[in-house]
Amino acid sequence: MSGPDARGTDAGDMALAHRGMHGALATAPSYVVGNVDPHRARLIANFYENVVEVLRVHHLGEDELVYPLLWARCVQERDMLERVSAQHHLLDEPMRAANEAIAIYASAPSALNQASLVSAIGALDGAVVPHFADEELYVVPLISEHLTPEEWAQARTHGSSQFRKDKIWITSCFLRENLRNGELEESFAHLPQVIRERWQTEWSPAYDEFMQQVRAD
Ligand SMILES: [Fe+2]
Repeated sequence: MSGPDARGTDAGDMALAHRGMHGALATAPSYVVGNVDPHRARLIANFYENVVEVLRVHHLGEDELVYPLLWARCVQERDMLERVSAQHHLLDEPMRAANEAIAIYASAPSALNQASLVSAIGALDGAVVPHFADEELYVVPLISEHLTPEEWAQARTHGSSQFRKDKIWITSCFLRENLRNGELEESFAHLPQVIRERWQTEWSPAYDEFMQQVRAD
């Protein structure tokens, strides 16, 4: 390593963010199959278009703020960094196909379009899971050692200004349902106070209301 000394950054929250995205994608069979109600189909489609967008901006933040710093500071790890960061581009086509299937299902939730959507979301999930595993195994330790807590916090929120859908909170709220003790605090440890307050007062209640309709509870 040619970078600075250990920075004392805990990037373990990366794995929690990944778990939220993977968990949300993995719901497709249970939410989509069997629903032909047009109103609920539009809500389900809105759920998945937001999940896919969270994935897009998550990688945008890494592409613009994480991998360039690691590239500069971890010269001996460049082969690995190039390999893992290049995996982001393997997701371009599955993300495009998922967004296309989401739009088609939203306009006509037929059995055929249900199957196409489940297949497209499953393909995206199948492509992203190995990337998440590599990132957690090889990249997270480098982030903890070579990025400052401030740099990591900036990377976590960097993509939010380029979020193009309407529910940026979707996967973190989804994750809330599956967290063990202390993991929620860990997940939010690097986020600004204003974000945490919004999450509690605005996003979490909005999520509960929205998901009741998505799940037809
Ligand atoms: Fe990541």
